[in-house]
Amino acid sequence: MSQGKNVIIFGATSGIGRGLVLFFAKDGYQIAATGRRKDMLESLRKEAPNQIAVYENDVNLLRETEQVFRKIVETFKTIDVIVHCSGIGDENPALDWPTEQNTLQTNVIAAAHIYGLAFKLFRKQQFGHLAAISSIASLRGNRHAPAYFASKAFQVNYLESLYLKTKEIKSGNVYITDIRPGFVNTKMALGNEIFWLTPLPKAVRQIYAAIGQKRRKVYISHRWAWIALALKVVPARLIRIFK
Ligand SMILES: NC(=O)c1ccc[n+]([C@@H]2O[C@H](COP(=O)([O-])OP(=O)(O)OC[C@H]3O[C@@H](n4cnc5c(N)ncnc54)[C@H](OP(=O)(O)O)[C@@H]3O)[C@@H](O)[C@H]2O)c1
Repeated sequence: MSQGKNVIIFGATSGIGRGLVLFFAKDGYQIAATGRRKDMLESLRKEAPNQIAVYENDVNLLRETEQVFRKIVETFKTIDVIVHCSGIGDENPALDWPTEQNTLQTNVIAAAHIYGLAFKLFRKQQFGHLAAISSIASLRGNRHAPAYFASKAFQVNYLESLYLKTKEIKSGNVYITDIRPGFVNTKMALGNEIFWLTPLPKAVRQIYAAIGQKRRKVYISHRWAWIALALKVVPARLIRIFK
């Protein structure tokens, strides 16, 4: 990737988002990093203080998010890349409503809100790249975490809609990348017996490469693409037996 560019990363305080900040910093980007945990933001800023600016933000506070977004754009003038990593996911077999609601609020409402802010900015600029972390979970339902799996399906469809909407942008310079990890070794990985857990550094390296290549969609690690093929055709009654 080239030098002198600007990126915003939502959900940069840990896991995939934090890892991506460090890749962008190595490539000379100016970075606006957001999240709720102030101490994590401050320790991240210290990694490259001349390049990383931090903004404390809860994406569920929609007006505050708009203000933070506006402030970042005013400071940076133009934005080349926006990466959406903020998300939550809990196993919730009891269907405890506050847990389901919180997941939907963060992964559906707040996510669509940020996708929209990004798309409208890029339409105005006539260039830009929105990369968002959805999940392999988008492909099917799951009895342990219904809201999480459904929220990821929402993200994938919304991102595809935005991709279709790029047709309306005359310059042809706006890109949408949908990143679908399998299991990545962060605190988010759901469950105890985790299958094909990708180490965080490997996942971040592959995600950063996919963003650089402006891929439309990508599975992380890449071998999850084979699982995705199977998941798309397997009948629900089989999933019901094994999962
Ligand atoms: N790890 C996996 O196995 C896996 C697999 C597929 C997809 N994903 C997706 O990858 C994305 C990143 O997750 P991760 O694995 O890197 O886990 P993580 O370390 O828990 O990162 C989640 C990030 O989201 C931020 N966030 C959550 N709620 C927020 C809120 N209300 N406002 C602002 N920021 C918020 C967190 O920051 P604060 O808490 O500081 O606010 C944190 O920076 C998520 O969308 C997740 O669904 C992960």
